[in-house]
Amino acid sequence: MDFRGTHIISVQQFQRPDVERIFDVADSMEPFAQRRQVSKALDGAILGNMFFEPSTRTRVSFGCAFNMLGGHVRETAEIGASSITKGESLYDTARVISGYSDVIVMRHPRAGSVAEFAEASRAPVINGGDGVNEHPSQALLDLYTIRKELESRQRGIDGMHIGMVGDLKHGRTVHSLSRLLKLYRDINFNLISPKQLRMPPGIVAELRAAGHKVSQTEDMAKGLHDNDTVYLTRIQEERFASRLEADVYRGRFRLNQAIYTRHCQPNTVIMHPLPRDTRAEANELDEDLNQHPNLAIFRQTDNGVLVRMALFALVLDVVEKAPQHVQQAGWYTGRRFE
Ligand code: NCD
Repeated sequence: MDFRGTHIISVQQFQRPDVERIFDVADSMEPFAQRRQVSKALDGAILGNMFFEPSTRTRVSFGCAFNMLGGHVRETAEIGASSITKGESLYDTARVISGYSDVIVMRHPRAGSVAEFAEASRAPVINGGDGVNEHPSQALLDLYTIRKELESRQRGIDGMHIGMVGDLKHGRTVHSLSRLLKLYRDINFNLISPKQLRMPPGIVAELRAAGHKVSQTEDMAKGLHDNDTVYLTRIQEERFASRLEADVYRGRFRLNQAIYTRHCQPNTVIMHPLPRDTRAEANELDEDLNQHPNLAIFRQTDNGVLVRMALFALVLDVVEKAPQHVQQAGWYTGRRFE
């Protein structure tokens, strides 16, 4: 696909070579993300970072990715701080903000809202998460991480076994990741969730139609035992009618050191899009795994910057310029990427 000026709304836009292209560009962004070099490829460009739902990683890493390419970030971080609370439509907001920005990242609680916004926008729009629907940049960084983790174990994505755990009904990250994995061959999906929070049947049907194997279970032990990667998720309490309703499921699907050692293959990669709910009653991914070498959650967050830099570089067409307009980082950068 031609990325230049394109809205990135859904992983369904991609074919496998497009994903490989994004990953190659992401690899080339390492000197900037690791603070060895500063690129000025986007000097003067403006990102409209519009987040109408809570966010830490996605908002900040999109912003930092843009800064690391030399661009400026304008942020609207709450719906209450925008004219949407005065009754302004997404259409009008899109027309206005796209006059001020070269590219927009948007997160919004309603499924389909970012596509609607993009239709009215005069600048390319990247979906930072639209309700329960999709979260394409997260799926890309997850798959980029899976690829790196499996490569270091002499394995590839084709033929992999992945366990997805938790709220698979409302979790947009697992929806997008599953659909992205559809582009690969012979994936074995072990879906572990309460019956009420299963992966949407439409997505399961799509995976099966593409030739992948999908099993669904409520039994953690059964679902965990044969995976290259386990991907845990948070109960998406904001998508339930009340907190009480979400509480029913909290803490039922947790992974800790003892469960991992007992039920998982010894080299299973542990992933989570974050935030993990570390309250005692949930504790879905226990902090007693923090030092575990297979815990990839902070490698995921670091990789998020690379993948988001790649998306900006492709959409704004500066892939070749990025390494040309550089200077060395002139400040103490520590040893945090060694
Ligand atoms: C996820 C999201 O917002 O969908 N977070 C993220 O972007 N990394 C997952 C979640 O909130 O549980």
